[in-house]
Amino acid sequence: PDYTITVNPAATGAAIPKSMYGVFFEDINYAADGGLYAELVRNRSFEFNGTDAAGWNGLTGWTASGPATVTNDDQRLNERNRNYLTVSGPAGLVNAGYNTGLAVARSEHYDFSVWARADAAASLEVALQTADGTALSAPLRLKVSGDTWKKYTGTLRATATSDVARLSVKTTGAATLRLDEISLFPRDTYKGRTNGLRKDLAEKIAALDPGFVRFPGGCLVNTGSMYPYDAANDYPRARSYQWKDTVGPVETRATNKNFWGYNATYGLGYYEYFQFSEDIGAMPLPVLPALVTGCGQNRATVDEKLLQQYIQDALDLIEFANGPVTSTWGKVRAEMGHPKPFGMTTIGVGNEENLPEEYWANFVKFEAAIKAKHPDITVVSNSGPDDQGATFDNLWAKNRAHGSDMVDEHYYNSPAWFLQNNKRYDAYDRNGPKVFLGEYASLDNKLYNSLAEAAYMTGLERNADVVKMASYAPLLANIDNVQWKPDMIWFDNDESWGSTSYHVQKLFMNNVGDRVVPTTTTGGGVQTAKPITGAIGLSTWRTAATYDDVKVTRPDGTTLFSDDFSDGNADGWSPVTNRGDWSVRDGGYAQTTTDTEDTMVKAATIAETDYDYTLKAT
Ligand code: AHR
Repeated sequence: PDYTITVNPAATGAAIPKSMYGVFFEDINYAADGGLYAELVRNRSFEFNGTDAAGWNGLTGWTASGPATVTNDDQRLNERNRNYLTVSGPAGLVNAGYNTGLAVARSEHYDFSVWARADAAASLEVALQTADGTALSAPLRLKVSGDTWKKYTGTLRATATSDVARLSVKTTGAATLRLDEISLFPRDTYKGRTNGLRKDLAEKIAALDPGFVRFPGGCLVNTGSMYPYDAANDYPRARSYQWKDTVGPVETRATNKNFWGYNATYGLGYYEYFQFSEDIGAMPLPVLPALVTGCGQNRATVDEKLLQQYIQDALDLIEFANGPVTSTWGKVRAEMGHPKPFGMTTIGVGNEENLPEEYWANFVKFEAAIKAKHPDITVVSNSGPDDQGATFDNLWAKNRAHGSDMVDEHYYNSPAWFLQNNKRYDAYDRNGPKVFLGEYASLDNKLYNSLAEAAYMTGLERNADVVKMASYAPLLANIDNVQWKPDMIWFDNDESWGSTSYHVQKLFMNNVGDRVVPTTTTGGGVQTAKPITGAIGLSTWRTAATYDDVKVTRPDGTTLFSDDFSDGNADGWSPVTNRGDWSVRDGGYAQTTTDTEDTMVKAATIAETDYDYTLKAT
């Protein structure tokens, strides 16, 4: 049937900010080390550890032949880089890089560096090679002299292209050598930056033309121990993301155990995030931990002194981003190579906390301290881990009553949910806090998911007076190390490709309008009852859950669809690919059994026009 769309060009709809659509970068799926961060050497400073991941140790990523041992003593390079390698006499070291190996391209240059000292004359021979030892570059020879730590550098040029290359470092002579921070970067990083970013990935993000970059997470920000790094004890190993750990010379950045289950070098840190945002013309939007853990950990650290330190860290971050070079943290930024301020305007406090009272008590203190010194900075609060429910209602009520600038909402749902909830923001208070949709995705990487996202984005845009920013999540996934999917951009060692969701995001970001043009639609499928086929989803957030007698109800409370599991059969329900451990039990209920995030969907045909349903599990 025909549609009639009536456009009212004279009417002035909401203005759409240039920053409406952006990206959310989190180091999940090996997005940083082995991904966007262009470093090719894995475990470059011998800091990998059995608490980072089972079976890991100081030599993970390396094969050593000859007398080479990982040492942790007071001869170390510096207090925050605990381990180094001691080599007594001639030895061979081979680094296998991330995934299948190092990706190198014929004729390209690679910048090598190492910190070293030796108790007698010694030399290093460095080269690229294949896994079986065939040379892929001419050797680089470096003489090491003196028993104090110095940085030695040189360049390798690849003679062939390979994505399974190795870096070989041979030592000669009888001296005892100490080595640390062995690094190899492609010369050709994004915009040629040193300590830079992998070009193809950075270019794909830049091609989106995002209005903002939210970083560094996610669950990464506010999980683990909230206490700062204690160098003397190399502790705590899994700590919240504290930005000061990630700035300054890379060899002084203490590594951390990542929430997503691996070591993070922090070579890609706050300076690099700001620099990248600037390079792609996007507004930087950092998120700080609020001393309350989220993401299933649900723990408040009640420690007033630590809270004051976290709040000071927030103020110091503003100084790092925007302060003059004469200020303490502005000077650090200038010494790193950026005397000009980065011009940060917006800062997030917290991520998906599920303890609303504890989070709120801290949030208002952060906000008061920031506003007192920087009234123009937008402070973003959040609404907890879910798109509805008690925590959501509680936090939204608090934010509304308080008059927060902006509230960060997150949700991952089925395509049917996105189609059915296009009107979500039509009813939001036009005078309340603005919405930052910091994370959302339809739960798969198929075309249908992306179409559902695109349809949903028209609803965001229609409400641009309330929804000020939105970012699909997660951004990146290393195909060999996937903790979460769907994702926007996928990659392996040397290739990357955008999902259909990437192309939807690109379409919207490359064509941000100036204003909403109000329209009305008559005729066509919108008015006529027309079956749609979609999916109904059940999901749970990192807790075991039991579902029995699942119902989809209409707004008036009558049942549209119901299912019990009394026959012990799944009745068409199935877990979303690789995400869940759902099963149907003999007693007639569906259950998730592990402490993880799960979603189960069932295809459904809904032959009605009003899709505003709520899903209820009893
Ligand atoms: O985007 C992946 C994760 O989803 C984020 O870390 C977290 O904030 C959300 O739950």
